[in-house]
Amino acid sequence: MTTKRIIISGATSGIGYEIAKLYIADGHKVGIMGRRIELLDNLKSLSPGNVYIQQLDINSDDATSRFQSLIDKMGGMDLYFHVSGIGYQNVSLDYNKELNTVETNCKGFTRMITYAFNYFSDKGCGHIACISSIAGTKGLGVSPSYSATKRYQNHYIQCLAQLNTIRKNKIHFTDIRPGFVATNLLNNDHHYPMLMNKEYVAKIAYKAVARKRRVKIIDWRYILLVAGWRLIPNCIWERLRIKN
Ligand SMILES: NC(=O)c1ccc[n+]([C@@H]2O[C@H](COP(=O)([O-])OP(=O)(O)OC[C@H]3O[C@@H](n4cnc5c(N)ncnc54)[C@H](OP(=O)(O)O)[C@@H]3O)[C@@H](O)[C@H]2O)c1
Repeated sequence: MTTKRIIISGATSGIGYEIAKLYIADGHKVGIMGRRIELLDNLKSLSPGNVYIQQLDINSDDATSRFQSLIDKMGGMDLYFHVSGIGYQNVSLDYNKELNTVETNCKGFTRMITYAFNYFSDKGCGHIACISSIAGTKGLGVSPSYSATKRYQNHYIQCLAQLNTIRKNKIHFTDIRPGFVATNLLNNDHHYPMLMNKEYVAKIAYKAVARKRRVKIIDWRYILLVAGWRLIPNCIWERLRIKN
């Protein structure tokens, strides 16, 4: 196995934290980013020689210069894994929650992914992976901004995959779409069907990236669910009372 230089944004908790642990355990050089510096420090303590940290808010104007300084510290980057994201169930349509979600999942996402794409374009090769969600595959009334921003992410990655062909670059793309995962992102007061644990999801995501899968829905139950959703005409879909 060749050692790779992997940078993960959103590695301080949840799915990103578990993915980072897998790359660290496999002996890769791992760069981790997020806003909570104490959690980055904790993760670095697992393997101080192989882990590089960078405090970074993807919504801030200085995010790309911080990203570049981490790339420089690591002597380059082979894989960028974008995991950072926020989301809410927002039936009351709280305006701030809707806009904050757009800010992080669209604007922050684009800021980071575009930077990684241009970096790999200059280098001639690389791999961009992200954790989007199955929530992007159909419009979900309980989480309008979350669902729409995840659709944006699915679409944006597809656009870049085509741009990669136009530019004759050799960048790989992996869009990982999990169903419900037990992390801080979910509201603890709710019951979520087919809830998965973050370690399980991270392992499947890790394998999908190693195999250079273009799209990976996690897990097989959600593959069936999404296939079923796709068969439902929009005029019927919009009349369904889907709460969770
Ligand atoms: N949980 C689910 O059911 C589920 C299902 C499908 C997809 N996903 C997706 O999986 C990804 C990870 O979420 P999670 O479930 O693991 O939740 P989580 O534990 O809340 O993790 C979210 C991560 O995003 C980072 N983040 C949020 N805002 C950021 C910002 N402005 N700048 C930099 N980093 C930021 C957080 O780091 P800091 O707070 O330290 O900055 C944290 O590391 C999200 O994109 C989410 O949409 C989750």
